[in-house]
Amino acid sequence: MGEKLKAVILGMGSRGKNAYGAEFLTLKDRVEVVAIAEPDEERRRIGGDAHGVPADKRFSSAEELLACPKMADFACVCTQDRQHAGHAVAAMKRGYDILLEKPVSPILSELQNIVRVANEEGRRVVVCHVLRYTPFFGTIKKEIDSGRLGRIVNIQAIENVRYFHQAHSYVRENWRREEETSPMILAKCCHDLDYLIWLCGSRCERVSSFGSLFYFRPENAPEGAAMRCLDGCLAKETCPYDAEKIYLTNKDTGVLQGNTGWPADVLCENPTEEKIREALKKGPYGRCVFHCDNDVVDNQIVNLQMENGAALTLTMSAFTSGGGRTIKVMGTLGDLWGDMDQNILRITEYGKEPRVIDLAGQAEDSDGHGGGDRGLVLAFLDYMQGLKKDGTISTLETSIESHLAALAAETSRLRNGEPVEIAPMRS
Ligand SMILES: NC(=O)c1ccc[n+]([C@@H]2O[C@H](COP(=O)([O-])OP(=O)(O)OC[C@H]3O[C@@H](n4cnc5c(N)ncnc54)[C@H](O)[C@@H]3O)[C@@H](O)[C@H]2O)c1
Repeated sequence: MGEKLKAVILGMGSRGKNAYGAEFLTLKDRVEVVAIAEPDEERRRIGGDAHGVPADKRFSSAEELLACPKMADFACVCTQDRQHAGHAVAAMKRGYDILLEKPVSPILSELQNIVRVANEEGRRVVVCHVLRYTPFFGTIKKEIDSGRLGRIVNIQAIENVRYFHQAHSYVRENWRREEETSPMILAKCCHDLDYLIWLCGSRCERVSSFGSLFYFRPENAPEGAAMRCLDGCLAKETCPYDAEKIYLTNKDTGVLQGNTGWPADVLCENPTEEKIREALKKGPYGRCVFHCDNDVVDNQIVNLQMENGAALTLTMSAFTSGGGRTIKVMGTLGDLWGDMDQNILRITEYGKEPRVIDLAGQAEDSDGHGGGDRGLVLAFLDYMQGLKKDGTISTLETSIESHLAALAAETSRLRNGEPVEIAPMRS
């Protein structure tokens, strides 16, 4: 194993603190966080204390930290979508390699620029496409690469966003408005487009796409709906999107059911009923889902024609009870069906009995994207320490392909499904 690595974290929010920061703390023999940048005082204090970062290395912005001479091997860029490109470029110019949160950028010229700077500066950049590192997708990739399914002709994938996740992130929260973040097909589905391209082993040639903001609009508000869920809403009882249900009573997400992690911990640190009620009274998460200022889609389908001849489809929908991904891979010699939520795969070579692979229990931390957060961190550290090679990891070069497909899909959707070619976007 190589020398212990030094890291700086830019953005000590949900991902910086709870995903990568928390993983680094379990790998102290391999990586040490030596500085952090975070404008929010409480997050800065909690993050700084957790990693034992001295007071003079706790910066109130990435810009401030990056104005100092290089102080670590890599920077973990965990700021918001529209900040990634600027922070990553400044960090690369300062000499840092990068662990970069997705999406890299929703702007094509920024994507092209970041690739250019990485090449000019000779920096290693890995994008946080965490799904590649899950036992679920890792096993699918091995099955495909074994050749047992023959040549892959079609893949049908579904991103089950889940009704409350849509309400939390894409109706009430940070990712609700495209101009402030990204189109949802990039924000949520660059992961899906990344694993589809990776599994297929081919770049995408062209895409077409349809989708809309179907439901979370004022005209769909039930009778008697209030502007905020706590303000005497008459539709409360029957509305599954009611904020009290999602953050307090729901068995999967409610604080009163013992769920103090995501999404409740986004509303406040160490959530309690009292703190959540306070946040719902005035904050964005207490708003009626039919009366927010959201404009991103709640459903979208994408058709992908791949350069190797395969044709793939991706459906993203808010309207699902369970989360995770479902997938069917169709090859010339066999097919594979998988449900990531159940962590189950069923593989059938034509004419033979199906083989079922139960992956439950293989992900050490099934909360962190089915083990993907940890898998990514381990792969990144291996890569940085020379134990893993370029072709096996979500480097900038390979990750950009999913972003091009997402931007092309959004262009197509806005043009009523007109096919969009990817090649001209690569220059
Ligand atoms: N890889 C994944 O699976 C995955 C999952 C969720 C989110 N994300 C992405 O991760 C990124 C962060 O998401 P999050 O949920 O942690 O959001 P967040 O809002 O909780 O965290 C972002 C943090 O950046 C801080 N920040 C803002 N301006 C800053 C600046 N100039 N310098 C330093 N810090 C600054 C904010 O105060 C905040 O604490 C987003 O781009 C999101 O799309 C990726």
